[in-house]
Amino acid sequence: MDIKNTDLVSLFEQALRDVPEQKLEEIGIVVQVGDGICKMYGLTHAMYGELIEFEGGNRGIIMQLDEDSVSLFLLQSTIAVAEREVGRRTGSVFKAPVGMQLLGRVINALGVPIDGMGDLVYDALWPIEAEIPGIIERSPVNESLETGILVIDALFPIGKGQRELLIGNRSSGKTSIAIDTILHQKNKNVLCVYVSIGQRVANVARMVRLLEENGALDYTVVVSAEAGEAVLNQYLAPYVGCTIGEYFRSQQRDVLIVYDDLSNHAVAFREMSLLLRHAPGREAFPGDVFYLHSRLLERAGKIISGGSLTALPIVQIQGDDITAYIPTNLISITDGQIVLDTKLFNQGMRPAVNAELSVSRVGGAAQTRAIKKMTKALRLELAQYHELLDFAQFGTELDDSSRRRLERGALAVELLRQPQYVTYSFVDQALMLFLLKEDFLDAIGVAKAKTFVVQFVSFVKSVHNDVYARIFSSQDVSDADIALLRVIAQEFSTLFVAPDLEK
Ligand SMILES: Nc1ncnc2c1ncn2[C@@H]1O[C@H](COP(=O)(O)OP(=O)(O)OP(=O)(O)O)[C@@H](O)[C@H]1O
Ligand SMILES: [Mg+2]
Repeated sequence: MDIKNTDLVSLFEQALRDVPEQKLEEIGIVVQVGDGICKMYGLTHAMYGELIEFEGGNRGIIMQLDEDSVSLFLLQSTIAVAEREVGRRTGSVFKAPVGMQLLGRVINALGVPIDGMGDLVYDALWPIEAEIPGIIERSPVNESLETGILVIDALFPIGKGQRELLIGNRSSGKTSIAIDTILHQKNKNVLCVYVSIGQRVANVARMVRLLEENGALDYTVVVSAEAGEAVLNQYLAPYVGCTIGEYFRSQQRDVLIVYDDLSNHAVAFREMSLLLRHAPGREAFPGDVFYLHSRLLERAGKIISGGSLTALPIVQIQGDDITAYIPTNLISITDGQIVLDTKLFNQGMRPAVNAELSVSRVGGAAQTRAIKKMTKALRLELAQYHELLDFAQFGTELDDSSRRRLERGALAVELLRQPQYVTYSFVDQALMLFLLKEDFLDAIGVAKAKTFVVQFVSFVKSVHNDVYARIFSSQDVSDADIALLRVIAQEFSTLFVAPDLEK
């Protein structure tokens, strides 16, 4: 039913007869409802994003302010809102439950547990839109957040408080990197928040099980808005997750938050905007889609008073096009990106990190000295390798130095290959890179290189634990230890029995 404007005043008066006069501006009346959206008259002082409570028990969030009306999205699809129903301002944006007891729980975007483990116990309700920490409150990113993935920690190190984008085509290993990074935080005193947006229920369930089986759920909160849920929930989920992360940070904790993925988030927001008849812009996204993600990701960071929030947003691209609208927005907002390449993935190079397009703009300052020392030439070597590889494909005759570079490049690529669910500590990584840097792998050859490095790491760990412990505690490899490691590697090379690859 459409209500004529002339009727509105009398309807409004009728509905508000018993309300004290000073509160009149806080109340509005529903004039149109449908598709989970409702238009209200009144509420002249309401803010964008404000939460409105209805008489009938439903709630809604204002997503559009017009001259004499506001439009809002309803939070509950199961509670009907009728025309002429009265809604009240709450003076606040939507709030999320926060608290240490959330660890180990799976909740939806409305803060309701969906893991069947009973009621949620929480400390407080925090507004999901928060003021962004100012420059004075922020501390430089100077501590490393280990992902346990060699190619990332060695070449594109991430610091605590950094925002690093994971970008790639469908099924290129984006989620796997994020999950492995969460698994690697075990016993590292880092709390994790995993926000799943617009994924299939089965995927999320599998992921939660995986975290649980690996003992990672104890330090993780999962916020999930699945593909079948209302667009509003998908829109809210990352802000809810971020608020929970900010709470942990306010307790002086280091926090890692994964947004999987923000393409779905942008699509949900686009749907909301189109329903509100906002003018579509590039790729039919509304003009304010940049603000959607910038205000979310600006909330990450390291705080001077202690605590940090590191963000790993994920974005999906199509046909390797990193220049699409949402990806370029996110690239410009974040402090670097890890680009995953389907071509490399299909060649078996996993994780399929494209070393030429990936970058970490701030993490270098946070990289452990042990790894920094060992990784110096690696980037250059890889770049030269890819260049030479293209060249070699033409069947060109190569000189000796080029051939040697190709061989070393192949060894480096082999070293950076890493199976899922296997992560390496920075000491393991430093030892592996040491073998490459000091030419110990040249005689071993590509096929056996991986076994060699893995066994060498266990050898140092068990037989020369003093060296291992020294690197661990100092986060550095002293010159004396480098000399010692040379001797150990020599000794190990003679002991190494290559696996029979024929079998
Ligand atoms: N390092 C790895 N080694 C072997 N297999 C891997 C590795 N990383 C990912 N995979 C496999 O690749 C597939 C895709 O990985 P994943 O789901 O992480 O990709 P995605 O980019 O998140 O996909 P989607 O676009 O569907 O979200 C999975 O089957 C996963 O097991
Ligand atoms: Mg994924």
